[in-house]
Amino acid sequence: MENKYGVLFVCLGNICRSPLGEGVFKNLVTVQELSHKYFVDSCGTGGWHVGSKPHNDSIRIARERGIDISGQRARKVSPADFKRFNLLVAMDRSNRSDLLTLPGATADSVVCLREYDSVVGDLDVPDPYYGGWDGFIEVYDIVSRCCERLLASLEG
Ligand code: 4NP
Repeated sequence: MENKYGVLFVCLGNICRSPLGEGVFKNLVTVQELSHKYFVDSCGTGGWHVGSKPHNDSIRIARERGIDISGQRARKVSPADFKRFNLLVAMDRSNRSDLLTLPGATADSVVCLREYDSVVGDLDVPDPYYGGWDGFIEVYDIVSRCCERLLASLEG
């Protein structure tokens, strides 16, 4: 693990957005035969859902796109994550500022996923938790196109 590059996707609850980041990025790494180079995980800045599966609609949209995230379980970020992972990828600016309050955090190690978006504008992946199914489709599309460019930039 230590000789691999660690990428950690982070949202608030670790049940809606960051599980999709983990699933999509792992899938890209596998498809591009880069599994020997990366380890990938996700977590939340909050602990309300620790131990839970991803949200049913996150599991569903991922499954519809050919990715199984049902085995994931939510966990809360810990300061040790700044040692284990090279890059923490926040789903929104609020997640990023919360991460930067933790001991061991450095500004360089925490980015927002949408910094890698080909559609320039909003830096936040919208939180679908209080909305409906359409929100999960939108989140999947954003996460998918951003993860492609994130991986390309790490490989570039
Ligand atoms: P996520 O969405 O941060 O994308 O996992 C949320 C999940 C749960 C809560 C908020 C956002 N919550 O308040 O419990």
